[in-house]
Amino acid sequence: MPTVLITGANRGLGLEFVRQYAAAGWDIVATARQPESARELRHIASDHSNVSLRELNIANDESVQDFADELDGKPIDVLLHNSGIYPREGQTIGQIDYHGWQNAIETNLFGPIRLTEALLENVAASERKQIAAISTSMASLRGVQGGSVGMAGTSYQYRTSKTALNMAFSILAKELEPRAISVVMIDPGWVKTDMGGSHAQLTPEQSITGIRQVLAGDPKEISGKFIGYDGVVRPW
Ligand SMILES: NC(=O)c1ccc[n+]([C@@H]2O[C@H](COP(=O)([O-])OP(=O)(O)OC[C@H]3O[C@@H](n4cnc5c(N)ncnc54)[C@H](OP(=O)(O)O)[C@@H]3O)[C@@H](O)[C@H]2O)c1
Repeated sequence: MPTVLITGANRGLGLEFVRQYAAAGWDIVATARQPESARELRHIASDHSNVSLRELNIANDESVQDFADELDGKPIDVLLHNSGIYPREGQTIGQIDYHGWQNAIETNLFGPIRLTEALLENVAASERKQIAAISTSMASLRGVQGGSVGMAGTSYQYRTSKTALNMAFSILAKELEPRAISVVMIDPGWVKTDMGGSHAQLTPEQSITGIRQVLAGDPKEISGKFIGYDGVVRPW
């Protein structure tokens, strides 16, 4: 069975990825900042021998390097960058919270790039060679121009960090093409999690079922694209 590595696997979409890939029999490296307090994830891991639980903070160089050393060359078929933060404070001009903005860039942009650098050879050593980043429709410039600021909120920190993630992963897709490594960006939809809130449209089960279907397609076909959980390509 292939191996999937999931960041932020202790709650929200990450936890649902673990549930579904575990049920499908995949080998899972499930990572969390604080695995000792990840109650539900520990419960799943205790029921499934194919789930291993590891500590990882993608915003911390040392944590990423220690983690990569621990993996010791283990092949990773699908590297799933799921972790993310959504700063809520200082979202209007005149009140911008630069500290929150830096955190968003550190976690939502540098985190996935830093982890990709550290685990590139693990992905290259696998059969599937696939890297996926969970982005958002809020990253879309066309969405802003089409007037969605009112709906989605200004959210400077979150939106710019994810737009930059899309740019970085588009470049990565090109850079890694000669090594047959596929890189895709995914919009999970608006989902009921701590981040999405209780009014969101989708359950984690619906979103992740769709994303798994997208990822199960030919990795080469989807590389460099920004695709929704529903399989529809999103505008940049
Ligand atoms: N929910 C939505 O409607 C929605 C819509 C579009 C995109 N997304 C994206 O989908 C992904 C998952 O979102 P979610 O809704 O599941 O959010 P969530 O419920 O807030 O969970 C976020 C996860 O990211 C982890 N995380 C945060 N900073 C981290 C770091 N430095 N290192 C490692 N892990 C870190 C959190 O760990 P802790 O528990 O330790 O904080 C948690 O596991 C995110 O990238 C988000 O931007 C979500």
